[in-house]
Amino acid sequence: MFAHIAPYAGDPILSLNEDFQKDPRPGKINLSIGIYFDDAGKIPVMESVRKAEAVLAAHVGPKPYLPMEGAANFRAVVPKLLWGEGHPAIAEGRIATMQSVGSSGGLKVGADFIKTWFPDSAIWLSDPTWDNHKAVFEGAGLTVHTYPYYDNATGGLRFDAMRDTLATLPPKSVVLLHACCHNPTGVDLTKAQWDALIPVLKERQLIAFLDLAYQGFGDSIEEDAYAVRALTDSGLSFFVANSFSKSMSVYGERCGALSVVCPNAAEAALVLGQLKFTVRRNYSNPPLHGGQLVATILGTPELKALWFSEVDAMRTRIQAMRQRLHAIISAKVPGRDFSYFLTQRGMFSYTGLTVAQADRLREEFGVYVLRSGRMCVAGLNNGNVERTAEAMAAVLAG
Ligand code: LMR
Repeated sequence: MFAHIAPYAGDPILSLNEDFQKDPRPGKINLSIGIYFDDAGKIPVMESVRKAEAVLAAHVGPKPYLPMEGAANFRAVVPKLLWGEGHPAIAEGRIATMQSVGSSGGLKVGADFIKTWFPDSAIWLSDPTWDNHKAVFEGAGLTVHTYPYYDNATGGLRFDAMRDTLATLPPKSVVLLHACCHNPTGVDLTKAQWDALIPVLKERQLIAFLDLAYQGFGDSIEEDAYAVRALTDSGLSFFVANSFSKSMSVYGERCGALSVVCPNAAEAALVLGQLKFTVRRNYSNPPLHGGQLVATILGTPELKALWFSEVDAMRTRIQAMRQRLHAIISAKVPGRDFSYFLTQRGMFSYTGLTVAQADRLREEFGVYVLRSGRMCVAGLNNGNVERTAEAMAAVLAG
């Protein structure tokens, strides 16, 4: 019955992470998957999350199905985080927000919605982008293209080529943009570049789809929402999928949100209705617990303030690791420019390692980076950064 089924080649991120778990070598270092590890190499349980868990545990009640669009208290606090308290678009009721199963779930529900209501639209992804974007949008039946993004020669952004390409797209084309902390390159648009891109999105009537999975890991929780707020203030209608997996260290709780900024409240109601239907025919309704953690933290001023300070500390630790890695490897490999470790932002750095070099790093030294050369710098700590730099230096020496 099933003999004709093709074997699954595995996922470039999740399968590599599984390989890491099975690797028996005691000194192995996991810089593959986008997970923040603390300086002891552990996935932290944040104090704000621990306190929210205690609040929820003290009020254990029935566990009904959530509505298709998720819990009302979760849906109320998320827009305030993304747009800021008192943003006019919230008061105008023109943002349709639903709780999603991680931001991946938000991408998928958004993709299904686009396929139904904009059937002639194709989607453009940055070159490169998160390994799973293509699969999610193709899986929803959309045609996927790429626009220029990363400059291999400089390690920076090909902004002019990106803008010029987007300026040629047919109206209602969908453009996936990383709101901050670009995955996999760590290369972001500056505020001035966002401001320069917005008129192109407007003139071409493009539909932006923002992926905001790392809010707080770039500059700050507030500053990393710049693109979301700037697009809204310009009058654009667009999608944004955001995640709490990394920023609250609640990966397995699968909590994120999909928001659609609409021209007015009447259209937001139409959009929300069809998002609900999309959810119903996929998985009916989202799980309860993770969303309640988020709602408790964001809805309790002391917990929210604590969470902000914890995210600040995580970001500061990542930046310190970037500096240490840069210092050590620059000393070990003189004459080669590693400044990208300092300028790239968020969890990831694009190292420029070839597939063969990434394979050697893993096989010979037990240091796991993606085969694309992406390194999760949030997996570095004071106990492994030196060994990472040594291994990288050896691999680069050939
Ligand atoms: C990553 O990019 O490593 C993370 O977002 C985890 C994932 O699901 O791919």
